[in-house]
Amino acid sequence: MLITGGCGFIAKNFIRFLRSERPGWRLVNVDALTYAGTVAGLPDESPTFHMVRGDIRDKSVVLDAISGCDALIHFAAETHVDRSIASSAEFVSTNVMGLQVLLDAAMHVGVPVFTHISTDEVYGSLAEHDEPWAESAPLAPRSPYAASKAAQDHLLLSYFHTHGMDVRLTRCTNNYGPFQFPEKLVPLTITNALRSKSIPLYGDGLQRRDWIHVEDHCSAILRVLEVGRAGEIYNIGTGVERRNRDVVKSILGLLGLDEHLITYIPDRPGHDRRYALDSSKARHELGWSPSRSFESGLEDTVKWYRQSENWWAPILAGKYQEYYDAQYRHR
Ligand code: NAD
Ligand code: TYD
Repeated sequence: MLITGGCGFIAKNFIRFLRSERPGWRLVNVDALTYAGTVAGLPDESPTFHMVRGDIRDKSVVLDAISGCDALIHFAAETHVDRSIASSAEFVSTNVMGLQVLLDAAMHVGVPVFTHISTDEVYGSLAEHDEPWAESAPLAPRSPYAASKAAQDHLLLSYFHTHGMDVRLTRCTNNYGPFQFPEKLVPLTITNALRSKSIPLYGDGLQRRDWIHVEDHCSAILRVLEVGRAGEIYNIGTGVERRNRDVVKSILGLLGLDEHLITYIPDRPGHDRRYALDSSKARHELGWSPSRSFESGLEDTVKWYRQSENWWAPILAGKYQEYYDAQYRHR
């Protein structure tokens, strides 16, 4: 199986999940090791795991890696909304052009199943009392990141309708868990709090997200691969909505800290107010349901970051810190 973006947060967790759930499967990971990728936590090279450092936009890299694969799961992407606001070029290039290279290569060699990892952000933003989105909701992305993901979804499904390829896609809510790059809300809050640094909350901090532990996303992806259907979209969410301010307060509580570290800063431009998903299709068709409560998942995540400073401290000591300081000053 070809996995793209395995040095990033979700795909790395997925590789680790597959190693325990399907230990005999042979996996190839293609990752360019951008700022968001690290090899720590991946299995060693072996007959069942091979890592290729390469860019998904590079046709020859992809054609080499894909030959002989029975399935492809596409995770690699530019993923941070704030970075897409600062500059959208890499988002269009990696997310849209990269997918096109992968689809053509998969069609060329006849890969039987192409599973793509999308996001609820393609649906846009909900108001306080709106119903959660079903898969039939219109796409209305509002950030350059979300727009590039919506473009991916359209391109992917066009290969089903036009070329008859077996493509499937998941649209998942906000993930949290081990190995998430410390620019996203949960790991940023934990790593800042552990260093007594302030925690920036955008706007009023009352934006809501539907939170899922990454392992529950991984189990859903495996169900999509094993029992999902060609051309289908599956929303993956827990229905557990939390306000950003409450997520941050919960983390501070788990660390035994009070709220004085929270700093309210000017809002993210075009900030989506609320995401919520109706994932009854995945529950009924795939027999999937999440197994982690938000409280226990968050507690485990905080514990993991406390014990894994050797993973995140070097990241924060590198280029990322410069970017973060610039962003923060900018606001
Ligand atoms: P991430 O930013 O942690 O990791 C992305 C990985 O892709 C990195 O290892 C990076 O090196 C690699 N990559 C980037 N550009 C590449 C290129 N051109 N060629 C090869 N590799 C490249 O991302 P993540 O949070 O794990 O997200 C994975 C996927 O899941 C993305 O498609 C994202 O849109 C989607 N998703 C994420 C979330 C979330 O909450 N994190 C929710 C729903 C969907
Ligand atoms: P993020 O983790 O960037 O994910 P996404 O934008 O894809 O949902 O942000 C989650 C929420 O937290 C989002 O509403 C923006 C907000 N946020 C902050 O308030 N402060 C921060 O420093 C970050 C990174 C995010």
